[in-house]
This record gives sequence, structure tokens and C-alpha cells, in this order.
Amino acid sequence: MFSVIFVCLGNICRSPMAEAVFKQLIEERGVAQSFKVNSRATSDCEEDNPVYPPAQRTLREHGYNFTHRARQLTLADVKNADYVLVMDGMNYEDVLRMTGSGYADKVLRLGDYLPEKQDIDDPWYTRDFERTYREVYAACNAFLDWITGEHGNAFQYDKLN
Ligand code: 4NP
Repeated sequence: MFSVIFVCLGNICRSPMAEAVFKQLIEERGVAQSFKVNSRATSDCEEDNPVYPPAQRTLREHGYNFTHRARQLTLADVKNADYVLVMDGMNYEDVLRMTGSGYADKVLRLGDYLPEKQDIDDPWYTRDFERTYREVYAACNAFLDWITGEHGNAFQYDKLN
């Protein structure tokens, strides 16, 4: 079982989008039983708020039926996770500051799985939620390719129809 947590600043746009996308991808590939998937915020500014409406709308347009309430990341979350996938350099610095550098090995930038090795920019500021969705989708797919390749024997493949 692999525990994956997606992390952004508010946990109302990028990281819930990534949680929704990754959960669907692991279902489609028949490996959902091998994962525990969550998302969290580095800040508490949106604590308990639902997914931001434009992000929710973008998910719905792409066929996702996903609900979530924002929660701030804790030290226990990081201790219990195998992979903490942050969206940008600021998230990375914030997670290390919140947890200590002892956990740096498991903190990864999601956009590093894209050919461009990039931040997933915050749509709260860019207002381009469709671009965020495309980047999150491509990066989650690439991360899943990587982890299934790296740890191939560890996966329980569900029966596919
Ligand atoms: P997220 O976007 O980190 O992708 O969830 C943001 C949400 C809220 C704020 C900033 C970014 N905010 O400043 O409240």
C-alpha cells in the first residue's frame, strides 16, 4: 500500500484536483487497492472550505464527481505518507519548514514528472483552471507511470473487465 498526499497552499484548487484525477487514474488502471490518496494545505486559510467553485466546475466538465473539504497538513500526515506531492517551490519550502528536513526525501514536486519540470501554477492567480487541470492530469499520469515502473511487483492489480 502506497500513501500519497497532494499538497498546495489552500487545498481548494490544485491539490483536490490532483486527488480527484489520481483516484480516477488508479481506478482505470486497476491499482486502486494499492493506494491511499489524500490532499492537504500548507496554510489554514481555507480550512474546512469546499473545492473552489471554478475548480469544481472544471472537474465536473471533465466527468469527475468529487467533493472535498480543505484541511491543513500535519506532521503526522507527512510521517505516514510515502509520497508528498507538492505543486510549487513555495509549497516545497513550506512543507520542509513545517516538518523539518528529515522528511525531504518523500517531498516531491508533482510537475517534476512533466517533461518541462515545472511548477503547477496557482489558478487562484492565473484564473486558467483548464490549464491547471491539463497539467495536473499529465503529471499524475506520469507519476503513476513512474511508481508502477519503480515498484511494479508491489502492486495488486484489480480484476479489470
Ligand atoms: P490552491 O489555491 O493552493 O491551489 O488551493 C489557492 C487557494 C486559496 C488561496 C491561495 C491559493 N488563498 O490565498 O486563499
